[in-house]
Amino acid sequence: MIRLDKYLADMGEGTRQEVKKYIRQGKVLVDGSPVKRPETKIDEAKQQVVFLQRQIDYAEYEYYMLNKPAGVISATEDAREKTVLELVAGSRRKDLFPVGRLDKDTEGLLLITNDGALAHRLLSPRHHVDKCYYAKVQGIVTKEDKKRFSDGVNIGTEGSKEQTAYGRLEIIRADSGLGISEIRLTIQEGRYHQVKRMFEAVGKKVLYLRRESMGSLVLDKDLKPGECRRLTDEELRNL
Ligand code: URA
Repeated sequence: MIRLDKYLADMGEGTRQEVKKYIRQGKVLVDGSPVKRPETKIDEAKQQVVFLQRQIDYAEYEYYMLNKPAGVISATEDAREKTVLELVAGSRRKDLFPVGRLDKDTEGLLLITNDGALAHRLLSPRHHVDKCYYAKVQGIVTKEDKKRFSDGVNIGTEGSKEQTAYGRLEIIRADSGLGISEIRLTIQEGRYHQVKRMFEAVGKKVLYLRRESMGSLVLDKDLKPGECRRLTDEELRNL
């Protein structure tokens, strides 16, 4: 059961104050009759809510896959910078947030939801969820780097040790002419600038970074950077 004003505000029909006004004006019908008390409790599974001739169904949680473009920050709001939430078309919900952060210049998979329990499960190191990244790296990535990432590298700054857990490094291509490598790295942690700092620890520099998957969720190849879509039922079930 949920209050009528919260029901409509959660579904993006206005702010709590705005929807209270619409309700008091008799613009909202519940099971066919106007209900004028915003605090009226609604059984979201059984009752029908209609506002301005539109049936408004209640969804407790929403889930979007965004292909984050470079130049946008992984925050819910910011006075100066464009945020990933501004790219979620089709939702006016106020409680959405990105699951984890990608750096401003990183592209790729970002899950956006209001489901805090799922976010916790995907981000908590205890749950060992794989995050897979594709990167272009300045320098020739070697078998020794693979071994070092597998054993864990120290990404701490002077004096402070910060050891990473196991990481699986795959070398896609190492072009000794250009001095550039393409790699795929799978890690289960999500420390600040982790991939970039891991390569710095082995004397290399990440030039381009894209997240390709998180657990069972794989970035949809049809989503261009900046595009977003709802998760399918199957993607959600598998998460
Ligand atoms: N590692 C990084 O260095 N940056 C990201 O955005 C994600 C992982």
